[in-house]
Amino acid sequence: MSRITLTQLRNLKAKGKKISCLTAYDASFAHFLDQAGVEILLVGDSLGMVIQGHDSTLPVTVEDMIYHCQLVQRGSQRALLVVDMPFMSYATPNQALETAARLMREGQAQMVKLEGGAWLVDTVQLLTERGIPVCAHLGLTPQSVHQLGGYRIQGRTETEAEQLQDDALALQTAGASLLVLECVPSDLAAKITASLKIPVIGIGAGAACDGQVLVLYDMLGITPGKSPSFSKDFLQETGSIPAAIDAFVSAVKKGTFPEE
Ligand code: KIV
Repeated sequence: MSRITLTQLRNLKAKGKKISCLTAYDASFAHFLDQAGVEILLVGDSLGMVIQGHDSTLPVTVEDMIYHCQLVQRGSQRALLVVDMPFMSYATPNQALETAARLMREGQAQMVKLEGGAWLVDTVQLLTERGIPVCAHLGLTPQSVHQLGGYRIQGRTETEAEQLQDDALALQTAGASLLVLECVPSDLAAKITASLKIPVIGIGAGAACDGQVLVLYDMLGITPGKSPSFSKDFLQETGSIPAAIDAFVSAVKKGTFPEE
């Protein structure tokens, strides 16, 4: 079976159909996510927290990402495989090119994800011109947690909101074909989603985005400590892992998750 393509994702947006995305870190979970029809598997650097037990994503290495991407690739056949570029692996355009090439060649990813705004325009242009599809990530960008002063909602002031809208447009123009929008007010996320041609996948960004992503362990309620308030424990109400994943996909498709 061939994997979901960016053209298919763009068509889903054009038809107003929602896109489901979950993080994946190993072959067994990847298998169940694939079976449930999740369109995008994100090998997120959140693995630094939920798999490795760090208190941020900063210690994650390129080798870690390649390893987990290989596992997810082996366990899945259908979903688009997106991998995070870890902290400080894309500080310059040339470094980004080298890292992305490794993630695609060794990790077998189909797309790379980078956190940041307009400063990444040259990098996105360089990667996409060389055939590397890019997912941008705006709003709460966890690799900048210390710069942001904590895990907090972004885009609350008019200036911040304008900046986010400008960044989103600039990254699309530079060639990004997907955008993850994390922890921004839902009206701002709705505006950005409507203004872009590329699909916008939200996390803690309201129901108007073209799709939704959650950290797998949060939506199964197995992340130690407190899960983010925007997440939901789908395992609690369904009782089995495959049923929880099915329930997430169905809620995203029907537009019942997230609630207003
Ligand atoms: O690393 C990750 O899991 C992510 C999602 C939270 C979007 O970037």
